[in-house]
Amino acid sequence: MSAITEDIESVLYSEEYIRDTVSALATRINEDYRDREPVFIGILKGSFMFMADLIRKIELNCSVDFMSVSSYGSNTNTTGAVKINKDLSGDIEGKDVIIVEDILDSGLTLSYLINYLQVRKPTSIKICTLLDKPARRKTSVKADYSGIICPDQFIVGYGMDFSEKYRNLPYIAVLKPEAYTK
Ligand code: IMP
Ligand code: MG
Repeated sequence: MSAITEDIESVLYSEEYIRDTVSALATRINEDYRDREPVFIGILKGSFMFMADLIRKIELNCSVDFMSVSSYGSNTNTTGAVKINKDLSGDIEGKDVIIVEDILDSGLTLSYLINYLQVRKPTSIKICTLLDKPARRKTSVKADYSGIICPDQFIVGYGMDFSEKYRNLPYIAVLKPEAYTK
């Protein structure tokens, strides 16, 4: 049996740091959306842990939906082509939508999704991302709520994967170089 911790080079953001960041984001959303009933749309798979923690700090009447998307290819580079594996289950016309993402990197996924969702006539669309790598942006997409501005490093954990592994780590970490070639 190989332990997951053997592949970790260092912990970039601890559980406590993530918890405080998520609370601060929820506080801002609670204030900004007072008297409104937003729909939180989690982008799977990466956002499942962030969504679960964020939503329990939201004190508004709200609903939750998910979309599953994947960028073509399973390596660390995104090409920009987005495949929709699971679409929304509810209607968003006339609703205030908050997209919940794990990490905003090139922005290609979100710029595609915003265009895709706009067609369904929501009242508003805002983006809430736990992590933001502005150095890698290839589009004009900006997060309305961003938790952590992070360096241009590939990270895993707290929902984020490398080749579908490491999503279960409760913190955010950098892998040892040899973990990529196992
Ligand atoms: P974008 O389209 O380049 O903005 O990529 C967004 C998606 O790529 C994120 O939602 C993640 O699923 C994935 N991604 C980007 N950077 C990382 C990373 O450092 N680790 C794990 N996944 C990442
Ligand atoms: Mg994602």
